[in-house]
Amino acid sequence: MGIYLDYSATTPTRAEVREFMAELMVHHWGNPSSIHSWGTRSALVVERARLQVGSLIGAEAEEIVFTGGGTAANHLAIFGVTRKYKTPRHVIISAVEHSAVAAPVAWLEEEGWAVTRLKVDRYGRVQPQDLQEAIREDTVLVSVIYAHNEVGTIQPIKELGHICRSCGVIFHTDAVQAIGRLPIDVRELPVDLLSLSAHKFYGPQGVGALYIRGGVELQPYLFGGGQERGLYSGTQAVAAIGGMGLAAQLLQGEMATEIKRLFNLQQKLKLALSSIEELILTGSPEERLPHHLSYCHRRMGGREIVRKLDQLGIAISAGSACSSGKILPSPTLLAMGFSLQEALGGFRITLGKYTTPTDIDQLVAAMPQIL
Ligand SMILES: Cc1ncc(COP(=O)(O)O)c(C=O)c1O
Repeated sequence: MGIYLDYSATTPTRAEVREFMAELMVHHWGNPSSIHSWGTRSALVVERARLQVGSLIGAEAEEIVFTGGGTAANHLAIFGVTRKYKTPRHVIISAVEHSAVAAPVAWLEEEGWAVTRLKVDRYGRVQPQDLQEAIREDTVLVSVIYAHNEVGTIQPIKELGHICRSCGVIFHTDAVQAIGRLPIDVRELPVDLLSLSAHKFYGPQGVGALYIRGGVELQPYLFGGGQERGLYSGTQAVAAIGGMGLAAQLLQGEMATEIKRLFNLQQKLKLALSSIEELILTGSPEERLPHHLSYCHRRMGGREIVRKLDQLGIAISAGSACSSGKILPSPTLLAMGFSLQEALGGFRITLGKYTTPTDIDQLVAAMPQIL
């Protein structure tokens, strides 16, 4: 079967969720907007899921808007805020955002918006002081990733949020990688908008949500039937949303123990890999997602490492991308001050629900072979 250690790319939909979704597709295929009983039965599924997803992060059900995934949630946050203004203003993001935030913001920049990209330190962390200094009179949105997909670093979200709040600026965080791996409670967190994606926590792909704090007004960027309070038009994907809700509920019950288990596996792997001299740990050693380890190799390309491990039946991810046949260095590692060679050598190992200590042993045994 092989060993899957790429849980930050996606997680398998868990059995309970698969079975529930199949049942929903058989019995709850009505359009939730229809007023007959087929419709109202489906609408109930969607509303229960809204409660379940809200409860996972301490939000009210009405603060959750379902979207077509994490990318769509980020777009709703970014365009939802910026479309309210007739003339371009100023937006702040970090230099290490996921492309689902970086790309729409680059598009805004082309449209004439001013954009500040906050620099990060060697560990990929933003300094709250830098945010304080970057906020201008015309700043309307700050968006900083909660925990990084490539290097696992957790940002000082609470401090950043307090700065935004004291300046009256809307604060969005892409928490797609953090959900289920860190306890998150929006009642204690000064964030206005927070993105989630079901396929990162054992739910289905193609469904996500944006948490919108009560009182925060957004403009839609999708128009049509006016579903999701007019903020995300299009018939809701009832089975996928129901599946996301159940995944959120199951996660909530097991998260505390699972985080501890993942952390122990992570520490075991980190210790074993620390004897390989050519590997440099990237990202923060302490402020880090519990399921995540990332390295760069001083001489070997990250993609080569991924391919060689794949031949041995082990799946991990590389930090570098390939475009038009050319291998590109990781922009995140470059922003963190790594050399071009090192930024080509990045790779990440991410653990999850079905990872066992034996999987870790097998990866550790394979590493010297492939390096
Ligand atoms: C940090 C982060 N944001 C956004 C996304 C995009 O989410 P989705 O695949 O649900 O569109 C991902 C997916 O890898 C991610 O890691």
